[in-house]
Amino acid sequence: MSEDVARIRAGFAERFGADPEGVWAAPGRVNVIGEHTDYNGGFVLPVAMEHTTRASVARRDDGRLAFASLQGDGKVVELDLAQLAPGCPTGWAGYPAGVVAGVRERLSGGVSVLVDTDVPVGAGLSSSAALTCSVALALSDLVAPELRPADLVELARSAENDFVGAPTGILDQSASVLCTAGHALFLDTRDRTSEQVPLDLAAAGLALLVVDSGVTHDHAEGGYGDRRRECETAAERLGVPLLREIDDVAALRPLADGTPDGEILLRRARHIVTENARVLEVVDTLRGDADPRAIGPILTAGHVSLRDDFEISVPLLDAIVESALEAGAHGARMVGGGFGGSAIALVDADAVDAVTAAVAARFAREGALAPRTFVTVPSAGARRLA
Ligand code: GLA
Repeated sequence: MSEDVARIRAGFAERFGADPEGVWAAPGRVNVIGEHTDYNGGFVLPVAMEHTTRASVARRDDGRLAFASLQGDGKVVELDLAQLAPGCPTGWAGYPAGVVAGVRERLSGGVSVLVDTDVPVGAGLSSSAALTCSVALALSDLVAPELRPADLVELARSAENDFVGAPTGILDQSASVLCTAGHALFLDTRDRTSEQVPLDLAAAGLALLVVDSGVTHDHAEGGYGDRRRECETAAERLGVPLLREIDDVAALRPLADGTPDGEILLRRARHIVTENARVLEVVDTLRGDADPRAIGPILTAGHVSLRDDFEISVPLLDAIVESALEAGAHGARMVGGGFGGSAIALVDADAVDAVTAAVAARFAREGALAPRTFVTVPSAGARRLA
């Protein structure tokens, strides 16, 4: 038995006085390119990380729900199945509860869930999807075996959107469920078709460095929803159902109607149109036999677009990108929903230490706490561990 499985089984027995029926894991993700395109029907290209959330689960017979975590204050969140409703329970337990809500008619006796995670929380690395997807896979194995991977994505998305109320797209859940080791997932979020694109950076002497800025964010509120509404307004003014329909920036001109508002919508929409083109360019490069270093400048262009047109970067994310590039990274960009979180840098494997040191030195100059950094390799999606 792996250490992770042994720890969570022991924790489960301690809290609930019984063994769990199984242990399931789902990973966090980094998105190589394709940011904020998902709710616009566009393209994304995430990889799963080695970091996972593990869920241990057992059905009950008293109609109660219990959620606990090996992280945090250790309190068990308990309620009757009948009390389950959007907004109840609040806090982190709302995520697994939202998944339970999606299959509640199969769980009339209730369920106990204990989770453990090494996905950094609030770091733009999709800890919430790792949580919902691990529980979705567990419940599907136990009570809804007919659910296909695409249904698990939907179950996890609905928990986040409809139960917790975070207006996200399907990037994170798709990555957590569908990614495979050694590949990036090229997903068309409009028709949900996908392709596994081989991504063996180590063979090319490269590494994908992740740097957590330490600035935390919460997509259930604030800027993320604003950006989503701006994109929807831009699409409406252009007479298209989704900004994905537009592949030429010239077609965005009608948005610039001379008002400051029109100017903002133009920039938001321009990010989406150019970002979709960048995903296609990166995928083309990786499919061919070009040196993967060639994707570096495309990643950096993605950051510039998120910073200037989409306006969701923060000074410490810009500082990571600048210092990594100065220290020899081939490309760097912020990842995830923005307003904090992490950045990635594509670096030669033998330059990881130098780039890490350069970023740390820049943080020290900015008076910020030393950032957490690690190298990630494209890893497996959600799976049963025990
Ligand atoms: C968050 C959301 C995703 C996606 C990204 C930005 O991670 O959960 O749906 O919109 O931001 O690409």
